[in-house]
This record gives sequence, structure tokens and C-alpha cells, in this order.
Amino acid sequence: MSDLKRYTITAALPYTNGPVHIGHLAGVYVPADIYARYLRAKGNDVAYICGSDEHGVPITIKAKKEGITPQDVVDKYHAIIKKSFKDFGISFDNYSRTTAEVHHKTASDFFKKLYNEGKFIEESSEQLFDEEANQFLADRFVIGTCPKCGNEESYGDQCEKCGTSHNATDLINPKSAITGNVPTTKVTKHWYLPLNEYEKWLREWIVEGHKNDWKTNVLGQVKSWLDDGLKPRAVTRDLDWGIPVPVEGAEGKVLYVWFDAPIGYISSTKEWAAREGKDWELYWKDKNTKLIHFIGKDNIVFHCIIFPAMLKAEGSYILPENVPANEFLNLEGNKISTSKNWAVWLHEYLEDFPDKQDVLRYALTANAPETKDNDFTWKDFQARNNNELVAIFGNFINRVVVLTNKYYNGIVPKPTNFSEVDIKTLAKMNEYPTIIGNSIEKYRFREASQELLNLARLGNKYLADEEPWKQIKENSERVKTILYVALQITTSLFVVCEPFLPFTSRKLKEILNVTSSGVEMSWNTIKEIQELIAPDHKINKPELLFAKIEDSEVQAQLDKLEATKLANEIENKVVEPQKETIEFDDFTKLDMRVGTILEAVKVPKTKKLLQLKVDVGIDTRTIVSGIAESFKPEDIIGQKVTVLVNLAPRKLRGIESQGMILMTDTPDGKLAFIEPENDSVTNGEQVS
Ligand code: MF3
Ligand code: ZN
Repeated sequence: MSDLKRYTITAALPYTNGPVHIGHLAGVYVPADIYARYLRAKGNDVAYICGSDEHGVPITIKAKKEGITPQDVVDKYHAIIKKSFKDFGISFDNYSRTTAEVHHKTASDFFKKLYNEGKFIEESSEQLFDEEANQFLADRFVIGTCPKCGNEESYGDQCEKCGTSHNATDLINPKSAITGNVPTTKVTKHWYLPLNEYEKWLREWIVEGHKNDWKTNVLGQVKSWLDDGLKPRAVTRDLDWGIPVPVEGAEGKVLYVWFDAPIGYISSTKEWAAREGKDWELYWKDKNTKLIHFIGKDNIVFHCIIFPAMLKAEGSYILPENVPANEFLNLEGNKISTSKNWAVWLHEYLEDFPDKQDVLRYALTANAPETKDNDFTWKDFQARNNNELVAIFGNFINRVVVLTNKYYNGIVPKPTNFSEVDIKTLAKMNEYPTIIGNSIEKYRFREASQELLNLARLGNKYLADEEPWKQIKENSERVKTILYVALQITTSLFVVCEPFLPFTSRKLKEILNVTSSGVEMSWNTIKEIQELIAPDHKINKPELLFAKIEDSEVQAQLDKLEATKLANEIENKVVEPQKETIEFDDFTKLDMRVGTILEAVKVPKTKKLLQLKVDVGIDTRTIVSGIAESFKPEDIIGQKVTVLVNLAPRKLRGIESQGMILMTDTPDGKLAFIEPENDSVTNGEQVS
């Protein structure tokens, strides 16, 4: 085919300071994977490239916190991430890492070339310094107020709130993230890429040149940076973790992580090409290759401004054709956070749902944060599975396979007479590869996934209208045609679902037995030929494609998140400051006794109040207590409590309360009794 092309598809290299979560998947890896699989299926030459981003400050902070080396940290997470991607069916052609030798050499050579050609500005200047830690502060080592939006927790290189990228010295009120100290300054030499010199070119290339084909969220961010004016950007750091700056007089300095990481795409391609016997340069330097970067929105500046400026400065590379950045995915209404453990981690999902890769892929695609931030909820996940994959997609295929086996022993029947509906249905079916493909090519993966489902809906409607199970008694000849048509749709689904649901597609291949019959299906043939599966071909027995997800499975996941919330609350609990000092006499005025609850009933029409009968040793008295949201009346009979007995009585809801039960709070917002540790303490004992 003449429109076949070479594609280099990159997916943002994940930081190895934690595992991969659903936010990463929805934003980057799933859409990139759909895109890569689709292009391969059409016969294009595809290199789908990724790897671990193993340098940078967060990794050194994590190592320090855990008392291990940065290398230990990256080894651990590289292994987890790599395996979880593989088990999830992400079809990278290569997954490398930036601590690999090929990468160090590639990044180092890249720097040297720019250095030798005078593309950098070399400059000594005052940089933030932490005296106590004896370390320069840049990037995530420093926190302060963003000069652009006023966010008080901006990092030295980027504000997570407004996305602006800046230099650490731009921060207002900077503080060291290592010691909390206010930094001093110290003079140090660094190399800067003069981004300002690329401003005009960037504007022409992106704002003018790509105004019609890049996503509006991407164009918007790029425009805003260009309008603010670009400044020279340091591409080296005073740090001991990273790629050493390969020039003289740069001891103790490494390449800035955002300088080396995107070069990781190139080194990963080299690693792959060497293994596969290919020429890596074709994938990075040939004008006919299309380079596409899949990223999340916080990476836009790096992929649309800094890396292109680097590539332009180097001179021999192609530039990205598109950078389809996604927005963020939230989880159950809250921002996903690695440090707060507020996430669905891929490796844990795969443990809990070992054969449901496609369900998550589908749920994340159908609800992808393509044009705005979106929320992942377990309820939606369950609904996508039960109402769409099971009830529509799986149900259609199952009925076709069951009936073909039942009526024809699994042999595809020969159609007799096509009705108008049959012809229309087949024609409609033939439109889907193009419809779905067009959406994918426009990076509209949500839309594409819904069109995929519409193809299954077409099949379901056809069966429901034609009712082969009724026709079989009166008009069995007709059923042959009906099932023939339905089998064409099933085969079409097998082909077009592959980018979205690769595990399901593989199962369908088995069921339809298309391997052994030698039917070679592709998106190209499927558009052009009418007969996707021929009469007399034998298919296999039905097999479950999607199983219903029960409420209890979803509840277990929600419970897990609830436990995380609780753990965070405990960790972040603010302890109230001490009250003002009192004299000993003030204290002795309080008469506190041990007592036992004898009776408890709810005070009608209140949410919080219980009316209690409490034996306090002196007497048995009525106490109204606001504990009904924490305890059921029947559960606290016999409970030992501490009671302030000489508190002036007061009426609550018309009931006189003669004292107060002492309580404390638990982290989950419930109440707890203060009771004597020793059971033999009797009612009426004083607390002093
Ligand atoms: N590690 C970065 C992140 O997770 C992405 C790096 S992308 C690359 O945000 F281009 F630098 F490789
Ligand atoms: Zn900001």
C-alpha cells in the first residue's frame, strides 16, 4: 500500500521513584499502545519506544529516605514497571532505561556535540545552596512560591499547579526540601540552552504550522509560554546522580534530567535496532518518518519546547509530527498522588484482576482524560465491564458462537439469499474499520472505543431483529444467512478490537479458528472484502470473553482506598496546641469517676444523642451523650466509662443530663471511650 509509513512512537519515560498507576496508563501508555497496535495492523513500520527515567532529584530523595542507594531505587522500580507493562499487554518494541550504557553514551555525545558547536551559553551565577546539606538546590530540592500563579508549593523547575517551568532562582520565598532551611546562594558554573533564540522558530513551527492538527490544550500551553518569553535554561546540575557532564571543568556536575531523559527515546531506539538488525537512524533522521510523543500535560513544555530546541540545535534529527498530550485522571474525586499512595497501582491491579487487562484498558479508554481532567471510579469501571463489555460485546459474540455450534456443528453456513437488512448490515459493518481508524488517527481514542462498541451493537440489533432462534423452526434456510452475516461481524470485531482489547482479540482468534484456516486478517483487507470468514470454515467452541464484576469486588477496592485515606489522616493528623495553664486547684474541682453503662436508647429525632443510665458508684443516673454516630445502643451495655459527675446538670431535648462521659477521637472520625486498663476497677473510683 502506498500510504504506509514509518512511525516512531514514544511514550513518556516513567520515573522510577514509584510504580506505574492508572493515571499514567490513561494519559500515556494505553492511548500510545492503541495507536501503535493500530498502525502495525495496517502494515506500517512502527517503533514503539519507552524506558525508565532513572535520573533526577526525586530518586535521590527517595533513596535518602529509605537509606538505600539511588541505583537500588531504580533497580527496584524498573523491574516492577517493566513487568507490569508486559503483563498488561503494552506492546513496546523496546523498553530501556536511562542508566543503560547506550543511553549514557548517547546523551553524553549529544551534549558534547552541542557544546563543541557553541550552542550553549556557559555562565557562572549565584544558585540556591543549602549550607547544612552542603548541596546546591534545584528542581525538586527546592520549594517556594510560583512567580506566575502564586502557588506556595511550586518546585524549583516546575509549578505543578499552573504548569509553568522556571529556574529555581525564580521562586519567591524558596525553602530547601532537604532540611527546610532558607537557602543561601553560592556561585557555580552551568551550561544553558538559549531557548530565547528558538522562540521565533518555535512559533512558526508550532503556533503557525500545527495550528490545525495539534490538540488545543497543547497549542494553548505552547502559546502561553511563547507569549511570556523564553529564557536560557540550564541543562546541567550540581548533583552526584546522573550523567556526568562530559567536558573539562565540570566535576561534580551532571546533565539535567530533562536534558537526558528525552534523549532516552533515541537510545532506546538504538538498543532495539541493534537487537533487531535495523538502522536506528531511519527512525530519527529520515524525513519520511513520523515521530509522535505521547505524554501527560505536565510534560508539554519539555516535549514541545525544550526537546525540540535540543533537536533543532543538534541539527540532524526530525521533529515531532504531533504531541497528543492528555489531561489528568483523578481517582474517586481526588488527585492521584504517588506520595500519598492515592492511586490504583498497575502491579496491584494485575494481582487483584489477573485476567482483566482488557477491562481496565477499556475503562480507561472510554473515560480517557483527552480534553479535560476526568475521574476514575470503581463504579464506572464495573459499569463499563458489566453493561458494555459483558452485556453488549461479549453477549453478541457468545450468541453467534453458541448458535453456530448448536445448529451447524461450528461450520460457517453458506448464505442463501441476502435480504435488504443483510446487505445494509454488512455494508455498515464494512464502514467501521474506517470510522474507528479515523478516530484513532485523530487521537480520539474515547470516540474510537465507542465506535468499536457500536459495531457490537450493530450485531446485537441484527440478531435481536432477525431472531435466528425462532426462525430455526419455521425457516431454517434463512438462519444460515443470518448466522453467516453475524459471523462476519464477529470476525470484524476480532480484527478491530485488537488495538483496544488485545487479550480478547487473541481469544477470538482461537474461537474463530482463523489461524489454522489461514485467514490473514488486517484492517486493510477488512475494508475491502466482504467475506471475512468463509462458508465451510470450522470455528471452535464458545469461551467466556468477559465475566461480570460483582459488587463485592468493587467494594474491596473501595475499602483499600478507604484504608489509604485513614493511613494518610493518621500521618497528617494535626495535634491541637496545648490549652492555657491551670492551677492544681482548678483540676481538683473536677470530680471524675469510673462508671458502667447499664442502659442505652436513642433520643428520638436526633442523630447524635443517646440517653444512658450509668452506674457511677454514688448512684445510677441519666446522662445524655452525643455518641450515637459511633455506637449502637445495644453494643455499649456493660461498657466501663469515665464520667465527670459534678458537672452542673443540663437539659438536652427535654431530658436532664447529670454528668458527662469522657471521650476521645479516633483517626476515622469516630469516638472512643476512656476506660480503666484494669477490669477490676469498680464503679465510683475516682480519677485523679
Ligand atoms: N519521567 C517523566 C515524567 O514522568 C517523563 C519523562 S519523558 C522524557 O513526567 F521525554 F523525558 F523521556
Ligand atoms: Zn504556578
